[in-house]
Amino acid sequence: MNRTTSKIRQDFLNFFKEKKHIILPSSPLVPYNDSTLLFTNAGMNQFKEIFLGYKKTDYSRVATVQRCLRTGGKHNDLENVGYTSRHHTFFEMLGNFSFNDYFKKEAIEYAWELLTSQKWFNIPKNKLWVSVYHEDDETYQIWKDIIKIPSQRIIKIGDNNQNQYDSENFWQMGDDGPCGPCTEIFYDYGNNINNTTDFFKNNNHRFIEIWNIVFIEFNRISKTNIIPLKKKSIDTGMGLERIASILQNVSSNYDIDIFQDLKKNISQLSKIKDLNHPSLQIIADHVRACAYIISDNIIPSNEHRGYVLRRIIRRALRHGHKIGIKDNFFYKLVSVVIKVMGDTSAILKQKQKKIEEILKLEETQFSYTLEKGLKILKFEIKKIHNNILPGETAFYLYDTFGFPIDLTADVCREKNIKIDYNEYELVKNKQKKQSIINQKFYKSYNDNIIINHTCTFEGYKKNHTKSLVKYIFVNNKSVKKILKNETGIIFLNTTPFYPESGGQIGDIGEIYNKNCSFIVKNTKKYGNSIGHFGTLLSGKIEIDQYIYTKINQNYRNAIQLNHSATHLLHAALRNILGEHVNQKGSLVTDNYLRFDFSYHPTIEIFQIQKIEHMINMYIRHNFLIKTQILSLEEAKKKNAIALFENQYNSIVRVVFINNISIELCGGTHTKRTGDIGVFKITSQSSIASGIKRIEAVTGKQAIYYLHKKDNYIKDLSIVLKCNNSDIKNKVENLKNRISCLENQIINLQKKEHTYYIKKLFKKCLDIKGTKFLTHIFYDYEHKFLRVIIDELKKTLEKTIIILVNVINNRFTFVIGITKNLLNYITAINIMEIIIEKTNGKGGGKKEIAEGGGIYTQKLIIVLNDIKSWIDEQLNKK
Ligand code: ALA
Repeated sequence: MNRTTSKIRQDFLNFFKEKKHIILPSSPLVPYNDSTLLFTNAGMNQFKEIFLGYKKTDYSRVATVQRCLRTGGKHNDLENVGYTSRHHTFFEMLGNFSFNDYFKKEAIEYAWELLTSQKWFNIPKNKLWVSVYHEDDETYQIWKDIIKIPSQRIIKIGDNNQNQYDSENFWQMGDDGPCGPCTEIFYDYGNNINNTTDFFKNNNHRFIEIWNIVFIEFNRISKTNIIPLKKKSIDTGMGLERIASILQNVSSNYDIDIFQDLKKNISQLSKIKDLNHPSLQIIADHVRACAYIISDNIIPSNEHRGYVLRRIIRRALRHGHKIGIKDNFFYKLVSVVIKVMGDTSAILKQKQKKIEEILKLEETQFSYTLEKGLKILKFEIKKIHNNILPGETAFYLYDTFGFPIDLTADVCREKNIKIDYNEYELVKNKQKKQSIINQKFYKSYNDNIIINHTCTFEGYKKNHTKSLVKYIFVNNKSVKKILKNETGIIFLNTTPFYPESGGQIGDIGEIYNKNCSFIVKNTKKYGNSIGHFGTLLSGKIEIDQYIYTKINQNYRNAIQLNHSATHLLHAALRNILGEHVNQKGSLVTDNYLRFDFSYHPTIEIFQIQKIEHMINMYIRHNFLIKTQILSLEEAKKKNAIALFENQYNSIVRVVFINNISIELCGGTHTKRTGDIGVFKITSQSSIASGIKRIEAVTGKQAIYYLHKKDNYIKDLSIVLKCNNSDIKNKVENLKNRISCLENQIINLQKKEHTYYIKKLFKKCLDIKGTKFLTHIFYDYEHKFLRVIIDELKKTLEKTIIILVNVINNRFTFVIGITKNLLNYITAINIMEIIIEKTNGKGGGKKEIAEGGGIYTQKLIIVLNDIKSWIDEQLNKK
């Protein structure tokens, strides 16, 4: 019986355990040690620092089964998924690693033994081919002399183009980092292709690469520069799905046990019987990827990793739509993924509910625009002649319907259409530039200043300094002095003024001596320096002079309350809503604080109140707020929260609030939580899909806010003439009364209509067997004209009705005509006569038209003229 994928995974680990390797767990899909990498793309990622010699280890032989994702960055397979039998977004990589322990010979021998020995995978030796880097004679000899592979099955692979090391057999994880020559083992499916030159051809289905053994000897530090490493290591990778396809005797990865089960489930939802249908493969691949990405705390968004996730989900949903699945379906497949993935699905099981919720929400949100966007794309595709979709259309679909470019490309590919990517980039950049210009417009005063100077910030400890004036800018030009009434920016050697950063706004205050006073209205960073923006009220200030500074302490205090409260809020959110809450943006001012964070579900009022409770409890505990300067490593060890998507210096400042909150932060804080006084949330909203915003106030502002609410309720109780506690009842009673009165009005109006209808009925003239009626109402409601016309038309057979309503010197009219007259006269004809003669406006259809204008006596004359005109028309019958 064929080995299951689970068994292959386990056999691999058992083999290397026998060879004295330590088995380590997979690292997460989001690399924690490498901001250059979007997602973990190889087993070696987690060992990057060990390979480079930056980190020591207690073990020198390791084996892992690593979760990998290759969508974005150097290794990107998304577009091919579904259309080839080998590409995946998510896959598992089996890998053994040696850190300065065994090297080429043993690595090759281990691989060969596992693949070919009867005890293990038992693949016939003559089915295996290998490739080596063209300069690596040592490896060539090992294969030939020790393993004894015939030389015609050992292929030397050279450099592509002119770039050295740009070879299939020189492996590198990205644009920098560990790298080296490699040797790859291929399985020969042995169809009719006999000559070895085919080995190099793309889409060669005969030779499938199964195992890559990399000899890590270098560190790439730039595109063209690599330097040798002191210690040599081994990094290997074997795609689990590929080896499973060989051991299970199937020719496509998508036919192995895992995918068979997944595809069967999807097929049942869609009624597509052919399990090789690309859409089934795409959905099966994508749901695995999405489940694992979300389990690593990424949520769909419009940037960075969240956007990769969104693109994968949307591509899957599009294929679901294509094969006719009507309802939300994608989230239902998570349980199937958990079932098929065996040992490696423990992490999914733990977070199953969250994964399903997030996928379901994304699906619900996208389904509406998906349908609309696809209709538009279909329409645009019909219009094109040269099989090229304009880039502008692709951008429009992205911008308006959230169609990632690869989704549009996917649809186009099926119809053999290419996208004009150049135009797409042009339009996209144009829009980006425009939004940067818009942003700059608001920040205009600090635009053109480039300054190479370092200012020491002393504001953590001091609120005043004596400082040296280093530079002055007026109108964005460097000057020697600033004069009375001039506005400009002053740069000092040291300052207590906090420059706007990390969400905290800049300080205000004064720069002065006994002869001059410069009012600082804002403070900002300029590279390593700090600019004080403001106006000189008296005297003059020159460069190289000493001067005093003092910040506005009250303003700073108010900001500090909000900054410390922001940290408490972040902690409480993670505590109450879950650890996956991640900060997406923050603003800390003297008046209020604003905090944006990733969180999908609706936040209920009881949760908001729980958050407020928790924060006010932290405040009452009056915890000490401490700061420490630590290395980034130490900070991470202490589990400090940071925006790890950001680049940090190796030395960081960490703010501790007891053990409730530990955050990397350069901002200024209160001494104790008790200083915050009170914390009150003032609003909660959703600013983008999956991103929530909370605004809150603290201290004095919180009291003002509560007073304002009190006053508002007081005003309501006065207007409603009741106690606060009765307001709700009172409003409900009023609402009931209003709906009672509305019903009465409707009844009265009905009676009024009946009255008018009877009256108007009598007013009808007879022109050659056709009933003609005009009537002018005064101060009536326009909408009733139509109702009356409809009623009259029901009882009168051949009729033309013109009803006019005059209010405040203006008139409106409705014209109705029964169908049987439309060959001679239409409502539009009559409307045109009225609006032409009265300078009015109108529109409508043959049977009913309406319009209006300024009321003058002319209208009455026109109505008379119309009567004669109708007479004439009926004569022509
Ligand atoms: N790191 C190597 C690869 O991913 C083994 O192919």
